[in-house]
Amino acid sequence: MAVFLTEEERAILNGEQGEARKFAMEILTTVAEGCGAKRLIPVQSVHLVLHTYKSCFDAGVEAAEKIAAMGAKFSVPTTIDPYGMDAEDWKAAKTPEHYAHMQMRLAKAIESMGVIPYWTCTPYYGFTIPKFGEHLAWTESSAVAFANTVLGARSNRETAIVDVCCAILGRTVETGLHLQENRYGEVRVNLELDRPLKQWEYGALGFRLGKTLGNRIGVVTGMQGTPTHENLKTLCAAGAASGSIALLHIVGITPEARTVEEAFGPKSPTAVYTITERDLLDTRSDMNTHKGNNIDLIALGCPQYTINEIVKVRDLLAGRKIASNIQFWIYANSFAIDMVEKMGVRKELEEAGVTIRAETCMIISPIHEWNFRVIMTDSGKCVHYGPMECNAEMVFGSTEECVEAGVAGHAI
Ligand code: F3S
Repeated sequence: MAVFLTEEERAILNGEQGEARKFAMEILTTVAEGCGAKRLIPVQSVHLVLHTYKSCFDAGVEAAEKIAAMGAKFSVPTTIDPYGMDAEDWKAAKTPEHYAHMQMRLAKAIESMGVIPYWTCTPYYGFTIPKFGEHLAWTESSAVAFANTVLGARSNRETAIVDVCCAILGRTVETGLHLQENRYGEVRVNLELDRPLKQWEYGALGFRLGKTLGNRIGVVTGMQGTPTHENLKTLCAAGAASGSIALLHIVGITPEARTVEEAFGPKSPTAVYTITERDLLDTRSDMNTHKGNNIDLIALGCPQYTINEIVKVRDLLAGRKIASNIQFWIYANSFAIDMVEKMGVRKELEEAGVTIRAETCMIISPIHEWNFRVIMTDSGKCVHYGPMECNAEMVFGSTEECVEAGVAGHAI
């Protein structure tokens, strides 16, 4: 079936609005044909994943430069995933020279098209805040899961280059989670705990849900208490990494899942699972690929830390210092860093031995030069990618446990 194009879209395809928009329309119509979509739809914002030299290599940099050279400009608010290296001091972060050069070329090309230059995986904290029901073309699995699950917006997991085309046109392909019939729950997951989750349990629950659900849409019942935004950010990131969760219905939290009935709509569950406290403890044990207590790096901020989370680390340290045998890094975007600088918190943390790494993260920057063998983190997503991307064994714990380990110089 041919994709329906409006008069304006046909004009764009014919090149009447310039080379860049023609190119973008050719890509989007090809994607639409490939997935049997009927049409393109407007989006309110785009989030790009053509962001780091570590994953896009020379080909990605050259593609970004070619699209920029066509005169491409983004037509809707467009954010971008973290920078491929410490944006404040890449040399101190031991970034290889060639890598840094290529990262800067990539940034120059993307910035020339009009991206909002905060390099972050949490664009929903202040840059483009989606509303319920709004259509987005976002990449970054954790952000897509958060936008669908917590905010009730509608986005698929877009891919690099296609995301740039969406930003140029302000449109995406109407498929997948943009369509109501694809948003209903498929599997029921009963959380059997008669108390609110502890902080580390959100990461473990996300990790377990990802393994259990894969790409099926889960309807989670039994969530007690009032999880913070940060708890849900952690959960969504872990589930999107260990599985490919893009939408979860957490009954009572997800806007379109006020009840179990609403979450399933016309569908019935194809499977029912239960998750108990014991299951979360077992999951935590599986997440710990390192069984000893030595640690080289404690890496917090996956997804990047919010102001609240950075302040919490300062409070947990309570004037104590990080042991000299440990690197203790916090990843945050420059908005959060500006704020904690103004609050005096950055200075306090640095005096305690904490390094704040700007606009990047442990997974998408080249930290192999440090030869870390064991990394401790409070992030289920970091646990999933760390062994492959950082060539390290992982220790998972709560933020409190990470801070205590940092002060002690080993896992406790
Ligand atoms: Fe963000 Fe990097 Fe984690 S992009 S979600 S901090 S892997």
